[in-house]
Amino acid sequence: MAAKTNSDDTDSQFYLTADTFFPRNANTGLTFDDVTLATQFSRILPRDTVLDTRLAENLELHLPIISADMDTVTEHAMAIAMALKGGLGLVHYNMTEKQQLKEVSRVKNHVHGLIQEPITVTADLSVGDVLELIEEQRYTFSTFPVVDEAGNLTGLLSGSVVKPRYADRRVGDAAIPRASVHAITEKELEPDPIQIADQFFTDHPGINKLLVVDDDDHLKGLFTLSDVERIAMEKSAQFKPARDGEFRLLCGAAVSATRTEAGELDRERITAHVGALIERGVDTVAVSTAHGHTQGVGDSVKLIRDAFPALPIIAGNVTSAAGVEFLADCGANSIKVGQGPGSICTTRIVAGVGIPQLTALYVAAKGAASKGVTLIADGGVTKSGDIVKALTLSHAVICGGLLAGCQESPGDIVEISGKRYKQYRGMGSLAAMKAGSAARYGHNARDTTRKIAAEGVEALKEVSGSVDSVLTQLTGGIQSGLGYLGAANLAELHDKARYLRISAASQHESKPHDVIEVKAGN
Ligand code: XMP
Repeated sequence: MAAKTNSDDTDSQFYLTADTFFPRNANTGLTFDDVTLATQFSRILPRDTVLDTRLAENLELHLPIISADMDTVTEHAMAIAMALKGGLGLVHYNMTEKQQLKEVSRVKNHVHGLIQEPITVTADLSVGDVLELIEEQRYTFSTFPVVDEAGNLTGLLSGSVVKPRYADRRVGDAAIPRASVHAITEKELEPDPIQIADQFFTDHPGINKLLVVDDDDHLKGLFTLSDVERIAMEKSAQFKPARDGEFRLLCGAAVSATRTEAGELDRERITAHVGALIERGVDTVAVSTAHGHTQGVGDSVKLIRDAFPALPIIAGNVTSAAGVEFLADCGANSIKVGQGPGSICTTRIVAGVGIPQLTALYVAAKGAASKGVTLIADGGVTKSGDIVKALTLSHAVICGGLLAGCQESPGDIVEISGKRYKQYRGMGSLAAMKAGSAARYGHNARDTTRKIAAEGVEALKEVSGSVDSVLTQLTGGIQSGLGYLGAANLAELHDKARYLRISAASQHESKPHDVIEVKAGN
């Protein structure tokens, strides 16, 4: 080991560990921009850093970024895009329970090689009926296996005939007959289904669907060429998709501490809904509320933990060590930290409460360490540097605003003065609470006798391209941060972080200044 030098003493006097820095600043709430991280000797190239994170025993991500469970951020398209990059999407709960189950199914059935429940059509339909189905369900594909009532394969309706000009034709007449359809039995797929499907497509140029049947010719699934090619590409990608043991994409779903008309926790409904989510393959549920250190949230977490012992549970939000310990004792594995830092939040203005995010994370981390649970930093992240700072004290971050402008977020694009925007609203905004999220803020949406107090705003975000491109930028920034600190992974980032509080003038110095910017850095 190298001898200790004067320069080590000087550095350690200015650039402090979390346990020295935060207690020394105990009288001031600090957030991302109040603090900078000191660089450290490094042998690590940013591109070699690993961002894997384990939030619970059965919940591991390759990228520590989670999309917020908000109705303008995460439905199936966002959750799929997040998991494909190694992160996770939490499907929001401002929809019916049935709809949420459907959203989760769409994520779990996405590109896992074999599509086990392909959408099928029957011979008696017309091509026009199929076109209507595509429109209604917003399918992005137009080739369908044709089955009879018993589920036997009778043909394949090719996308090339699913066109308005053939609308009057019967599917039975327009489809390729069974005898000419390429199909393979489940047994023939063993031992490596993807490799066998890959070989099939190589051997059959021009064919891009391979149907799978059992010995009795019942349809059991299908492979598509594009899925198989994507999976083959994933093998060489640095950030692998976040998948479960059955090679399906990971997906989380938010649940609320639902109450009965009488105000009691609706135990049966919560258990039934979480049970149904698990049947659909959900990998974690997040009991999402604005105030997690409450009896109701604690009881909900306990209820879910008792009913589903192996399910990873995320719960929150809290900003105290006691809050973290409370939720951990109730059975949560990963605790969301953040009250009021969000870009659309008005909790601090309306209720006068909330803690600046870095201080909250440090305090919460003390509770997490004592209970062996993980932390998720939720809200206030506006750039990759914030994520690096958050990850020095937590295991993942939740982003809302940073992802709300992506094409995969729900909602239409609006154009104002030539610029394109997407709606982004707080789950505590009046509109979102009316749509169902009132429980998260302790209000009853159906209670029209009381004026409910909004704790969020309705806003717009400029359209920002795809999740893939946004996450690629963020990942590059996080990897740079780790490289500067000489940290090969997130555990080393925790160890190596040294903090310095900065002045208002330093904050000015930290951004582009005294230039006329002609091209944004991102
Ligand atoms: P960002 O900064 O990523 O924050 O846009 C997203 C997080 O903000 C929280 N959230 C709210 N907080 N009022 C609040 O005080 C609201 O209306 C609201 N809606 C969302 C939530 O934790 C989310 O992940």
